[in-house]
Amino acid sequence: MILSERISLMEESLTLAIAQKARELKAAGRESISFSAGEPDFDVPQVVKDAAIAAINGAFNKYTAVGGIDELKEAIAGKLKRDNGLDYSPKNIVISSGAKHSLFQLFAVLINRGDEVIIPAPAWVSYPEMTRYHGGKAVIVQTQAQNDFKMTPLELQAALTDKTKIVVIGSPSNPTGSVYSREEIAALGAVLKGSGAFVISDEIYEKLIYGVKFASTASVSDDLFSRTITVNGLSKSVAMTGWRLGYLAAANAEIAKAVVKLQSQSTTNACSIVQKAAIAALDGRADGDIEVMRQKFEKRRDLALELFNEIDGLKPIVPRGAFYLFVSHEAIEKDSMKFCLKLLEETGVATVPGVGFSREGYFRMSFAVSEAEIEKGIGKISAFARGYRR
Ligand SMILES: Cc1ncc(COP(=O)(O)O)c(C=O)c1O
Repeated sequence: MILSERISLMEESLTLAIAQKARELKAAGRESISFSAGEPDFDVPQVVKDAAIAAINGAFNKYTAVGGIDELKEAIAGKLKRDNGLDYSPKNIVISSGAKHSLFQLFAVLINRGDEVIIPAPAWVSYPEMTRYHGGKAVIVQTQAQNDFKMTPLELQAALTDKTKIVVIGSPSNPTGSVYSREEIAALGAVLKGSGAFVISDEIYEKLIYGVKFASTASVSDDLFSRTITVNGLSKSVAMTGWRLGYLAAANAEIAKAVVKLQSQSTTNACSIVQKAAIAALDGRADGDIEVMRQKFEKRRDLALELFNEIDGLKPIVPRGAFYLFVSHEAIEKDSMKFCLKLLEETGVATVPGVGFSREGYFRMSFAVSEAEIEKGIGKISAFARGYRR
């Protein structure tokens, strides 16, 4: 056998596969609209670009400390204090090349073969795959639409065993846009009390929130603070997907140290220039730009919801955060892969099948595109749904 057992346990990322198919259609000269990618279409704030240029001109070229430069760790500690009421010292913070990198390394340092990872679904594609790659068992908890697709304490209780090593909370959620309130997190925390489970709180969409209050898991109780690893980054809130910067903060310094050890033997530090630029993104200087982007996303969300209102057979969940609509097509088709492939082939509109998020009967569309594209694309989806033949 050429490939390792580990890699064959993992599936290719479905979001990337669909984006690739859409690119192929475009290359073949077909008109296409992509609602599939998970990234903002905005430019990076000028103040962040200026900081990067200053770092380049200042020849900040060398390897840095593996876990990141002190100046950035302090900026992150400051952000976590200011925005989230969290007290982390720099030694509890590890900077990596994207939140995905932070998450991958966390799974690597925490999971032993057979350990269980509780993942509320619909769930971001990578959580179950990372779990399996590291020899863990993904325990998918199917949440309910009537609970806004949030895991309830009873659902958590039913999934929790003495093998549970990690509970993943992604809020705001990709793909549903659901946001857990402080009270909801506290109720989940009460279930975990006394257990040996860690919580990985993926807060990458924290800044993209519409009319509700964001609550950071570790800030909800002392017990949750000690068992939670907070993960965040710049990709979504500051439109810096390609720059690759993410970070984690773990109350348990042993976990942070293990991640640094792994990183020292794999990728070493996150890009030195980007680390310098990230300070400008996190210390408050980019807050105005971040808010402008949030407002634009909110406007697009409202527009997309309004357009879906007119379509029979397709029902979106109202997202409270992130930049996705998770839309039920169950009334006209159960199989999400079939629905999305047909939609892409017949109309050139790319969306992502719900099955990739561990949920059939839905597709995810990103509204991180222009209002004109939203109107045109949803128009095509509407016509497609009207004429849908199984
Ligand atoms: C829920 C969630 N977590 C983490 C990430 C990874 O972000 P990054 O670009 O920082 O690796 C993504 C990106 O799609 C995401 O949707």
